[in-house]
Amino acid sequence: MLFRTSPEKFWNLIAKKYAASPIADLDAYQRKIEKLKSYLSSDDDVLDIGCATGTQCDDLANSVKHVTGIDISRKLLDIAETRKVEREISNVDFVEATIFDSRFEASRFNVVTAFYVLHFYEDLDEAVRRIYEILKPDGLFILETACLGDKSIITGKLIRLAGKLGFMPLINILSTQKIEQSLEQAGFTVIEKIKFSESIDEYTLIARKPLR
Ligand SMILES: C[S@@+](CC[C@H](N)C(=O)[O-])C[C@H]1O[C@@H](n2cnc3c(N)ncnc32)[C@H](O)[C@@H]1O
Repeated sequence: MLFRTSPEKFWNLIAKKYAASPIADLDAYQRKIEKLKSYLSSDDDVLDIGCATGTQCDDLANSVKHVTGIDISRKLLDIAETRKVEREISNVDFVEATIFDSRFEASRFNVVTAFYVLHFYEDLDEAVRRIYEILKPDGLFILETACLGDKSIITGKLIRLAGKLGFMPLINILSTQKIEQSLEQAGFTVIEKIKFSESIDEYTLIARKPLR
């Protein structure tokens, strides 16, 4: 049950290899970053969940006031620190934490981003409610994650089994529909749904917390 109970061990183990692997579809990634920037403003305080080596935090940094990148892997965060210094970026901080960390008080962030991490939360609804809580009214939640529920049933079941047996972190079998439902239940309104890459199946969802 090694990685089931301590997923950070898995990410620490593969950190160097992960950091060396190129972005799967660089054109699509760049289009995504440009799109995200169109939603950001220079006053924004952003939280990036599962920031890994911090690439996205660094790429968004010059469009906002501050970015906090959080991750459970100390080794990935150390690589993120090194890369931030190399790029001479001063408004990004990397913190070893999850979204449930009490340092993140209610209505703290203007924008929360989560790329390829939500499927590691066993209780998606609980995670989405917590993200809603730490966002300011009118704040944005921007996400994209693995949706094994939209793919072959066998692939999904095998990956979930590998997680249950502890060979890798436990993965929640999500679908785009399930995520949209969870967002709506928490109180978000989905304002845009975009597919940036032909070769990557998942949608990027942009959701807003109402002003009230
Ligand atoms: C597949 S990587 C995605 C990294 C990056 N967001 C991207 O899109 O390239 C998943 C990352 O989420 C982190 N992670 C896994 N579970 C987490 C959790 N509960 N809270 C914060 N980070 C987590 C892992 O350590 C890893 O860095």
